[in-house]
Amino acid sequence: MLNPIVMMNDIAIIKDELSSQIKGANDLKALDDVRVSALGKKGRITAVMKTLGQMDPGERKTKGQELNFLKDEIAALIKKQEIALKKQELNARLINEKMDMTLDARPRDKGYVHPISQTIEELTAIFADMGFAVAEGTDIEDDFYNFTALNFPPGHPAREMQDTFFLPDDLEEQGEHIKKLLRTQTSSVQIHHMQNNEPPHKIICFGRTYRSDYDMTHTPMFHQMEGLMVDKTTHMGHLKGCLQDFVQAFFELDDLRVQFRPSFFPFVEPGAEMDIACSRAGGGLKIGANKDGSVDSWMEILGCGMVHPNVLKNCGLDPDEYQGFAFGMGIERMAMLKYGIPDLRTFFESDIRWLSHYGFDPLDRPNNATGVKRV
Ligand code: DAH
Repeated sequence: MLNPIVMMNDIAIIKDELSSQIKGANDLKALDDVRVSALGKKGRITAVMKTLGQMDPGERKTKGQELNFLKDEIAALIKKQEIALKKQELNARLINEKMDMTLDARPRDKGYVHPISQTIEELTAIFADMGFAVAEGTDIEDDFYNFTALNFPPGHPAREMQDTFFLPDDLEEQGEHIKKLLRTQTSSVQIHHMQNNEPPHKIICFGRTYRSDYDMTHTPMFHQMEGLMVDKTTHMGHLKGCLQDFVQAFFELDDLRVQFRPSFFPFVEPGAEMDIACSRAGGGLKIGANKDGSVDSWMEILGCGMVHPNVLKNCGLDPDEYQGFAFGMGIERMAMLKYGIPDLRTFFESDIRWLSHYGFDPLDRPNNATGVKRV
């Protein structure tokens, strides 16, 4: 049992002893041992602190102050010694470690940029050049933004084609408006953007989208890109010119021909799909027309159209004053076509051999000045 009075008279002794132990600690391990023996749970100072409870209040006050002061002093000494020891250690290392400047540089372990990231950067470079800004959206969406506001009201048959993952809590308890789901299309970003910004609108957006599909050309998660332009005089000619310029820049084929076929998407009217010229001669796939300029095959690459008046109204715009176009495409599909990647599922298998084959140099980023990327 500790005798509090004796202990308290010993403060000066404790201080002297601990100070010399601290000064004598000549490595960090020894210093830590001193710290534990002084300030640790069973340390000397801690033990004396515990005796304060047995003193009368007046004495407790003065001794308490003295002890706290001692504690701080010891902690500061330990810190000081620690800094000195670390400095000593570093100096010793600097003296002993030598760098051989004559050694050959070792090849660096290079990482690769994933084809999805590469394609997103290429698309951004092309559309930024045309004056589009990048907007962002979230993967988890309200049913309203993903469907209803885009003119797929509840029960609309076009919803069937985009079955997705609904968040469990919301299934029955909430109405269509706030039912949460993983977005099936980036088109939802059009709505958020138009609701939160003043026209004119000129944006693109990229992101993950989800559908309950899985085969060679479908994965439950994939990426889309969306484009939107709305102004008072925007018309179908702008849509066609913009998309024609885009595919020519993306595939780096100045004479790449396109065709527009009527198609249906609830949020555009008229709606179309855009095809690019290609050749399937010999069982392969080549983008572009034949040498003699003839086109023997067309391939669909994106959906587009003039923004439906109902969508404009849902975003607070008067369709008699504003009109615009929109388009959307699958990013994996664009990457597969440009870089000859045959199976969509491989994009998400994290196979480093695949990445080192299809990936891109992180130091050679796409830009329009040097060419987005050679096919
Ligand atoms: N959201 C459509 C889809 O996922 C793609 C699309 C088509 C986007 C036409 C558009 C558009 O903006 O105008 O299938």
